[in-house]
Amino acid sequence: MGRFYITTPIYYVNDAPHVGHAYTTVNADALARWHRLRGDETKFLTGTDEHGQKVADAAAKNGVSPQEWTDRTSARFREAWDALGISYDDFLRTTEPRHYETVQKFLGAIYDNGYIYKDVYHGLYCVSCEDYYTLESSDEGRCPIHARALTEMQEENWFFRLSAFEDRLRDYYEHHPDFVTPETKRNEAFSFIRGGLRDISITRTSISWGVPVPWDDGHVFYVWYDALINYMTAIGYGREGDEVSTWWPSSHHLIGKEIIRFHCVWWPAMCMAAGLEPPRHVQVHGWLLMGGQKLSKTMAAEGVVKLTDIAPVTLTSEFGVDPVRYYLLRETSLGNDGEFSHEGITTRYNTDLANNLGNLMSRVATVVSSKCAGVGPAPRADSTLAPLARTAIADAMAAWDDFSPQGALEATWRLLNATNAYLEEHAPWKMAPGPEVEAVLGDALEVLRLVAVLVTPAMPGVCGEIWRRIGLSGAPDVAPVTESALWGLYPGGCSVDKGEPLFPRIRSDA
Ligand code: MSP
Repeated sequence: MGRFYITTPIYYVNDAPHVGHAYTTVNADALARWHRLRGDETKFLTGTDEHGQKVADAAAKNGVSPQEWTDRTSARFREAWDALGISYDDFLRTTEPRHYETVQKFLGAIYDNGYIYKDVYHGLYCVSCEDYYTLESSDEGRCPIHARALTEMQEENWFFRLSAFEDRLRDYYEHHPDFVTPETKRNEAFSFIRGGLRDISITRTSISWGVPVPWDDGHVFYVWYDALINYMTAIGYGREGDEVSTWWPSSHHLIGKEIIRFHCVWWPAMCMAAGLEPPRHVQVHGWLLMGGQKLSKTMAAEGVVKLTDIAPVTLTSEFGVDPVRYYLLRETSLGNDGEFSHEGITTRYNTDLANNLGNLMSRVATVVSSKCAGVGPAPRADSTLAPLARTAIADAMAAWDDFSPQGALEATWRLLNATNAYLEEHAPWKMAPGPEVEAVLGDALEVLRLVAVLVTPAMPGVCGEIWRRIGLSGAPDVAPVTESALWGLYPGGCSVDKGEPLFPRIRSDA
């Protein structure tokens, strides 16, 4: 048994959540569920990033205080995660007292270690990124991501001596080739370091919506600087019941590719400066696109798409929770960009869920009802499906372990395809009741049991339902996967429930 501490980025609360945020959160949830299934002691953290100019501006625009605005919008993220069946262990808000305490202690340690100093900052700022640009890194004075004019800023700030960590970071990357995955993103992060690091300004006096700097009244920490520390707040850094030594060596951050520099350069350096190891691993993923563009709140604000159409709660009520989760996990591998569309969900739903998994369930249950009086027979040890199942189990487990929900689902669907083909070949519906039909159905029921186990991190609701329909007690995620994902454990003699179709087909022109 191991330990697994997985985090999502904490989401800005300037507006409601959309399916791009859900992409990260559902992947993190599936990975957390996988590790619980493995028997690992697991902690899954998500939350909201509530400070900074962008959030303060959104509150002002809506005529409410920042606190009222963040209370309201943070609740919308929680609602979205509830709608998607997200099993987080902790939902952290950066406006909570525990976070203030940890930020002040963590940055106090960096200050005491001599890595923070005062200077005057001149630069170009993008409020949407909450980040500085130089003229060279900008797009002729415009933000390269948001295409809006950058604001010139000059402030007396406290700075973090990031430059002091260039060699140590380089060394760390060389000795920890798996620190950032996939490799393309590791190379990108490493190239930031090799390109040379400049100190960063970490406090603001121009706004008051932030965590106060303990050693200088009137300064608040820069939003990114407080946000990254959320990963420490959740494990109690600097507070009573500190669990840093328990969880930090098993920490995995799942992040979108636009925040690589913060997580893969700044954050490990901040940890080093505070006297800690960097996180164990950062898994970077790509973007969900619409028409080739990053799906974003800005896109919604510009009227390209309605925010409600891409809201997780709208999608789950339209397609169901598990189909949306399946689509997000199956369609786009962690690392690549992928196009999001309602047609895409419909196609995946009809081909993979209705025609394949759902069809197998209903065919098997129907024939068990007509040929075996509704009692599911046991599988054969020497079934031709057994070696295929063993391969699928090994491939799916390796893929789940390797942060590849997509790979795990692909491997499992290969077994489903083979099982549907096996049924076509043997046509049990044409057989007379007796041992021959029982053998074929027992094998197929065993596949359904194994699929329920391997897919439960992705579609917990549907897998629980398959488990119940094939007459098993408990749930597919009760026993550790190493004990349940073995061919031949379906006991037979179970009452099989035909039920309604698991995934009624959706008309693609609907
Ligand atoms: N608040 C910062 C993160 C601080 S973490 C210490 C932030 N927030 S955000 O609201 O902009 O959300 C960032 C994350 O949402 C991305 O890193 C990514 O995980 C997810 N996504 C937002 N839009 C997305 C897509 N279109 N596609 C995939 N993921 C997307 O940055």
